[in-house]
Amino acid sequence: MILITGASGYVGNNLVRHLVAQGKAVRALVHSPAKAAQRLADIRDRIEIFQGDVTRPETLRPALEGVSAIVHLVAVAIEKRPGDYERINTQGTINVVEEARAAGVRRLINMSQNGADSRLPYRFLASKGKAQEYVAASDLDWTALRPSVIWGPQDEFANVQARLIKLTPLIFPIVGDGRARFQPVWVGDVVAATARCLDDDRTIGQEYALGGPEVLTYAQIVERVLAALGTRRLTINVPVPLLRPVVKLMEVALPNPPVSSSLLDLLKVDNVVEHNALTEVFGIEPRPFTPENLTYMRQFTALGALKRLLGRPTADEEVS
Ligand SMILES: NC(=O)c1ccc[n+]([C@@H]2O[C@H](COP(=O)([O-])OP(=O)(O)OC[C@H]3O[C@@H](n4cnc5c(N)ncnc54)[C@H](OP(=O)(O)O)[C@@H]3O)[C@@H](O)[C@H]2O)c1
Repeated sequence: MILITGASGYVGNNLVRHLVAQGKAVRALVHSPAKAAQRLADIRDRIEIFQGDVTRPETLRPALEGVSAIVHLVAVAIEKRPGDYERINTQGTINVVEEARAAGVRRLINMSQNGADSRLPYRFLASKGKAQEYVAASDLDWTALRPSVIWGPQDEFANVQARLIKLTPLIFPIVGDGRARFQPVWVGDVVAATARCLDDDRTIGQEYALGGPEVLTYAQIVERVLAALGTRRLTINVPVPLLRPVVKLMEVALPNPPVSSSLLDLLKVDNVVEHNALTEVFGIEPRPFTPENLTYMRQFTALGALKRLLGRPTADEEVS
């Protein structure tokens, strides 16, 4: 039995489907039962679903019974409450490690992040770095995956650009100089690499960076999204300090802000993979982030984008 934490999340529901298709027994640890009911509806009968909160270790215990491996995906990129990064990303991972040890579960795949480092001033990356440090120092049979930004129909990066484009008729603001470089990796490739780790004990004790086939600047990513949507905008570069008060206002006013102050800083930091394990270790040919592969964005509407910002996403935009 494989326990997946964060199973109704973006990477999570894709991984659940992949493992079920491989015939694996899957137990999904979910936080919000309502979200799980929606995201996992079509495979509900083929998996076990347990509700749990990584910040409350006692809620993890029932889910760990009879488990042979854990894929730990829980993390928050946008904080709902101050301190969520430390509480959920770092301490939540520590709790998973300690509960796994107590339950005698030895195998753990930890979804880290390219660039995660406990010494960085960026709280999100530091929280993920501290989490992985704890995993690596444990006596578990761990593997860590460190993807660059992950794209796909449910992502919260490229799709955020696409939805904001729908809301900005003529001009589209690019954060900073737009030159920060990313290596967008397709969710299906990340999930395939994760599944390989579960099947291959040679991956124990290793950290694998995962990236797509191309390095793209933030401005190039926006260009490809515009091409996918079949539209044009005059793009203007807006310095981060000018955007900061706008983002602060969105954080206060919107239930589902598209970006947070701490993520704004990361839009100017390179997120490029030096040795791409996707190709070099797993032999996977990564799917490129091209307009032809982004056609799902065409279903986004201005009204849908607005509803999402207000925390009421429409079901028709929830594609997997
Ligand atoms: N997306 C990317 O571009 C990217 C890139 C590199 C690495 N990663 C890493 O990949 C992993 C998965 O990311 P994702 O994009 O799939 O994120 P996601 O869609 O936000 O999923 C995270 C999941 O964690 C759950 N969760 C949040 N707080 C929890 C808590 N206290 N207890 C239990 N569950 C909780 C959420 O459930 P609710 O929604 O019900 O609260 C959600 O299902 C993360 O570790 C992330 O850092 C992601």
